[in-house]
Amino acid sequence: MNKNIVCIGAGYIGGPTMAVIAKMNPDRKVIVVDINHERIAAWNSKNFRLPIYEPGLVEVVKEVRGRNLFFSTDIDAAIAECDIIFVGVNTPTKMFGRGKGRASDLQYWEATARNIRKVAKGAKIVVEKSTLPVRTAAAMEAILNCDQTKRFTVLSNPEFLAEGTAINDLLRPDRVLIGGPDGDEGRAAVGEVVSIYRGARGDWVPEERILTTNVWSAELTKLAANAMLAQRVSSINAIAGLCEATGADVDEVARVIGADRRIGPKFLKAGPGFGGSCFKKDVLNLVYLCESFGLHTAAEYWAQVIRMNDHQQERIVSRLFKAMFNTLANKKIALFGYAFKANTGDTRETPAGSVARMLHEERVRLVITDPQALANAKKDLCDLSGTVQRGDGSVAFIADPYRAAKEADAVLVMTDWDEYRRLDWAKIYRSMRKPALVFDTRNCLDSGMLRDIGFNVLNIGK
Ligand code: NAD
Ligand code: UGA
Repeated sequence: MNKNIVCIGAGYIGGPTMAVIAKMNPDRKVIVVDINHERIAAWNSKNFRLPIYEPGLVEVVKEVRGRNLFFSTDIDAAIAECDIIFVGVNTPTKMFGRGKGRASDLQYWEATARNIRKVAKGAKIVVEKSTLPVRTAAAMEAILNCDQTKRFTVLSNPEFLAEGTAINDLLRPDRVLIGGPDGDEGRAAVGEVVSIYRGARGDWVPEERILTTNVWSAELTKLAANAMLAQRVSSINAIAGLCEATGADVDEVARVIGADRRIGPKFLKAGPGFGGSCFKKDVLNLVYLCESFGLHTAAEYWAQVIRMNDHQQERIVSRLFKAMFNTLANKKIALFGYAFKANTGDTRETPAGSVARMLHEERVRLVITDPQALANAKKDLCDLSGTVQRGDGSVAFIADPYRAAKEADAVLVMTDWDEYRRLDWAKIYRSMRKPALVFDTRNCLDSGMLRDIGFNVLNIGK
């Protein structure tokens, strides 16, 4: 078995993960492949205009691309050349047929498995990197080893990185999880993947942080971990509504709750609700799995996490409506931030998207600004208005926040970009229509300073 690694899928997971694996394993050749030619061209671009924005990523790619990291569209050649195959293709929520709106759509995954079987020669280790329903490895095994010769060992190695901090999360992970089957072959395959994460010099992930389990535990852990994180966000957002009704302050409540070491301070920030490509998809998947196994009360419990999240965005629009004299038609509202969180250009399932759509229904003149996500915002909202392209309709996209806020009735802060804290808010106030409102849905600005300037200020959970 050779040490070469191929990763199928050059997205948010495949690109950064393999760049760091290549950095820490200069003795291994790592090839990242994708069916999307445009994406691969961007990974290979001379000026390093990579297809995704992630702090620190360009520096790692500059170090390893062409040394031992390669991006290619020749999937078959890469599979033939490598004995360790990571699969990081997308696994979106199924939008048709059985399990519609909840189950994972596994067609990309299965196509990949069939292709690996067709092309691969000799024994291979296939590593699930995508997030998958529990027991997918069994289906993968059945497809890969259907010709009776057991050449493939399937492992589960789910990824826990968060966007915006991906490089740091990869370099210094809390834990790496590798699930493998029983028996000598399974143990040897797990050992092979453990050695990747230890790094060529044995100084990457400390041994005690590499946790090994059976395959089903690994698959389920990933869904459960995301569901628990999402549940914390929904829990604090549920408390936020109560704070608004009672005069309590959600940031104070969270600070004190988080000081209990059994609970911990992280993931207690109230806001517009969670976004991103995975939380909703993975919680829905968990709901579907529970239902499939007849665990209906557990399914309802997890479904409520999503319901609470949607409600948070509805609440934002209702509060804005009330604060702006129960009519939003023709008012100009500037959305500050469209990415689902700071330090990423990713807009998948962003709360700003659903708020923008609700405001559009109210015939608001929307202006959207974001330091990294404007191109994705334009794509996401292109159906909203025929005038989007001209930029002069009810949805406009403006990179400069000062220009975006000019003559606006309200600024709605949807993403906690650091640069928003450093803006000259007095200048913004002077350029807006009066009364001027700031609704800071991330509680990231100094509201005392804003009030002193003259703004009406709304926050979440205050
Ligand atoms: P993505 O859409 O950014 O990337 C997936 C890539 O796979 C795409 O570029 C697509 O073209 C490619 N692809 C699809 N079918 C293919 C095929 N048959 N052959 C070759 N390439 C193919 O998705 P992502 O955000 O990277 O997520 C991938 C998986 O990783 C998902 O299961 C997700 O849940 C999981 N995950 C994502 C994150 C994250 O931060 N985005 C974190 C942990 C886990
Ligand atoms: C999340 C998990 O944190 C990762 O461990 C996991 O690997 C990944 O999903 C995945 O499977 O895709 P990510 O979605 O990139 O990572 O970002 P998070 O930092 O988890 O934030 C998710 C959403 O929750 C964001 O919209 C964020 O603003 C929101 N959030 C987070 C809050 O509103 N409050 C908080 O306290 C924390």
